[in-house]
Amino acid sequence: MRVRQHVNPLKSDLLEIAEVPRIAAAGRVIEVELGSAEAHFLLDRARDDRDTQFVGIEIRRELVVATNGECARLGVDNVHCVFANMSVDMPRLFFAGSVQRFFLNFPDPWFKSRQHKRRVIGPGLVREIARALAVGGELFVQTDIFALALDAMAALEGETSSFANVREPWTFLRESPFVAKSRRERQCELEGARVWRLLYRRVSR
Ligand SMILES: C[S@@+](CC[C@H](N)C(=O)[O-])C[C@H]1O[C@@H](n2cnc3c(N)ncnc32)[C@H](O)[C@@H]1O
Repeated sequence: MRVRQHVNPLKSDLLEIAEVPRIAAAGRVIEVELGSAEAHFLLDRARDDRDTQFVGIEIRRELVVATNGECARLGVDNVHCVFANMSVDMPRLFFAGSVQRFFLNFPDPWFKSRQHKRRVIGPGLVREIARALAVGGELFVQTDIFALALDAMAALEGETSSFANVREPWTFLRESPFVAKSRRERQCELEGARVWRLLYRRVSR
């Protein structure tokens, strides 16, 4: 099966994906990777945790089909990927307060300034993540593009924000608190590229 390298999330058919499911896990904790690609990160997390329901949201449909096939082949029943556009489908996907942790691992290949409007992390997505997260839940972001890390931080900091920086305001993590690694994360390690990491907790305001 041919898998496209990139798609444009603002393309009209991707703004109106039919049959986006509501994510529910019957009493299980839910963790979500937005832009999960082959779900390497979630499969890593599921290796030591068979109780949590891991959900990948991915806009390349072929990759969703292939990844769910791979999970079935591996016998992993608590990782599932969903074809949806995180920029518009969050209200359809998640009940308020239903998710314990969101991961945004290297979310954005669109880093040139003329592609600024395609960047996924902004006030709209941050608002939707805050709505879907349980109070006390977490949002982890990592990227090798400093400008994107700063944009994400700017969207998450502030006195009226629904998020508190787990380290200190305006501070990056020194290293990942997670053993799991995404494919892009491993590639950055191989290339010696610097990775910027942020961890925020949902607070009740
Ligand atoms: C640079 S890749 C990173 C993949 C993986 N998280 C990793 O760290 O290896 C970004 C992924 O996000 C997906 N993506 C981009 N925009 C998206 C959107 N609006 N909704 C859902 N997925 C999206 C892309 O198709 C791609 O698989």
